[in-house]
Amino acid sequence: MTGSGVSPPRLGRRARAILAGSIVAVVGAAVPAAAGQPAVHPELWPPATTRPLIDAATEARITELLAAMSVAEKVGQVIQTDIGVIEPDDLRRYPLGSVLAGADSGVHGDERAPPAAWLKLAREFRAVSTETRPGHVPIPVLFGIDAVHGHSNIVGAVLFPHNIGLGAAHDPDLVRRIGIATAEEVAATGIDWTFAPVLATPQDTRWGRTYEGYAADPLLVASYAAAIIEGLQGPPGVVGGIRDGRIAATAKHFLGDGGTRDGVDQGDTVASERELVRIHAPGYRAAIDAGVLTVMASYSSWQGRKMHSNHGLLTTVLKERMGFDGFVIGDWNAHAQVPGCVRTRCAEAFNAGVDMFMAPLGWRGLFDATLALVRSGEIPAARLDDAVRRILRVKLRLGLFDPVRPYEGRFELVGSAAHRELAREGVGKSLVLLKNDGVLPIAAGARVLVTGPAAQELRIQAGGWTVSWQGRDTKPADFPLAQTIAAGFRAALAADGGTLVDPLDDLATTRPDVAVVVFGEEPYAENYGDLKLPLYNARAALTLMQALRRQGIRVVAVFLSGRPLWVNPELNASNAFVAAWLPGSEGGGIADLLLGDRSGRPRNDFSGRLPFRWPGDVLGRTALFPVGYGLSYARRAAVPELDESLPGSRGPLAR
Ligand code: BGC
Repeated sequence: MTGSGVSPPRLGRRARAILAGSIVAVVGAAVPAAAGQPAVHPELWPPATTRPLIDAATEARITELLAAMSVAEKVGQVIQTDIGVIEPDDLRRYPLGSVLAGADSGVHGDERAPPAAWLKLAREFRAVSTETRPGHVPIPVLFGIDAVHGHSNIVGAVLFPHNIGLGAAHDPDLVRRIGIATAEEVAATGIDWTFAPVLATPQDTRWGRTYEGYAADPLLVASYAAAIIEGLQGPPGVVGGIRDGRIAATAKHFLGDGGTRDGVDQGDTVASERELVRIHAPGYRAAIDAGVLTVMASYSSWQGRKMHSNHGLLTTVLKERMGFDGFVIGDWNAHAQVPGCVRTRCAEAFNAGVDMFMAPLGWRGLFDATLALVRSGEIPAARLDDAVRRILRVKLRLGLFDPVRPYEGRFELVGSAAHRELAREGVGKSLVLLKNDGVLPIAAGARVLVTGPAAQELRIQAGGWTVSWQGRDTKPADFPLAQTIAAGFRAALAADGGTLVDPLDDLATTRPDVAVVVFGEEPYAENYGDLKLPLYNARAALTLMQALRRQGIRVVAVFLSGRPLWVNPELNASNAFVAAWLPGSEGGGIADLLLGDRSGRPRNDFSGRLPFRWPGDVLGRTALFPVGYGLSYARRAAVPELDESLPGSRGPLAR
């Protein structure tokens, strides 16, 4: 295990981390409060083509609502807080526009609450927001959650491969269908909005959020952006929204989150404006054309200035030049990182273009201060109206005012067989074969030992953002429907007369034909996953593989990770090596490709290709395998013995 193995509730942990400075400490270059805005040149950016969110009837309705609302009600709309710190009743005094379930938040503190409890809570918030009372314009609250690889905060939901694996699949239609399935599971629990997809194009895979991105290639990211948003929200222009089991998507994190120096989370992106346009923006162009309803501002900075205060990029470029008509949501208390701001007061972020504060900490103070800032004119009334118009536009486009929500309560959709099958298809398509000396495919009737630290570890299969934020503290009971990789082999072998060898039995007696060793990174999220070197440095699996080889047993390595890492010793120790990323709940997808038929002919071939290059040295300067690399049963290539030495060391890496 890396780390403590337990992640305490996120709100608590987050609050502590921020207070202790561990999050602020990785922010990057300090920006003096008086620093000017980095110049932007709108003409360099892709112009708006369509304006899919604008229609006259909706705009007229918004105008009526705005006319009826008090300033306090408008201010309420621009603030979101976490269900861990607000009760539905609080909305009477503070008419907030939105609530979120942060990754460590649950229903009244219960992260493992069943879907029915989530629905009940969503309805309670909605009921207060839409009630008729004096001085209140009924406007449904928008409920958001990080459904980032399926409805991944909810016990029992299908867990799709994390985005890096989907990037390896190079299959936009798969991503679109995953969007539909995810939306259905979210809609069943009464939730309206997911903080997904991540449209980062990670340039340095030491970044702890690499696995949330699809690929380093902006064009692949752009094709996926269109597909996932269409899946989650429905096709642009076809407005059924919630009624059709669709939810609002969030393109995040705008902009340059994947370009920070040394891959430091929340760090500084030093790219030129042209690089921003070429590398980091294409996903957003595609997302806007697909009608994405919300965009999340990035914690990171561009050229030393926090994105949350970058008027040029949030307003001049994103909204005016690129034509984004939805609303910009801030990230988790990120406005507090803007120089001159505190978590309870930040005109800078709002005036720069953040339309809704994500304010788990200090939200009451933020409400009061924002109201005062509007009254004093520091936040212009027109700016407030613009933000509220955007928020109401999203709510109307999504169909939130429509009381008919036929997907609510359809809990049979959560973890349904059809969604599991889709996830399994995704797992198979995501696998990248890096090495195979002919040991694969394994004949269906073989005696197979499936072993290694992750062979029966759903926690490692699922990765971060699963039930809890870091995903470290999950137990088998948190995955009631999931299948481990070993269980997937057991089922497939049983069907074909093969044998799953028990790892606890004496190998001299059981004599397996082949060993599948499953190992990988412990779960992490955000800056907890940042690395100094792109190196896998746990030793248990390597020792095991070497011991198996010494006994004459051939080894297939299945590596679970949120990114490519330097694994030369493991590549040398194995006969075949499969990069399986973070496959999620359907471990059976691994056996689908690794097991052949009874005579050892392939049943399904590998089609996954690397979405990021694979490092050939521990500094990550050279590529062992380039972007796009991936073998198959039809496409073979020998991998020579690889250098295992570390720079500065005299011999093979001592482990
Ligand atoms: C992350 C976002 C996420 C938000 C809400 C933040 O820490 O950066 O990606 O959507 O928390 O959980």
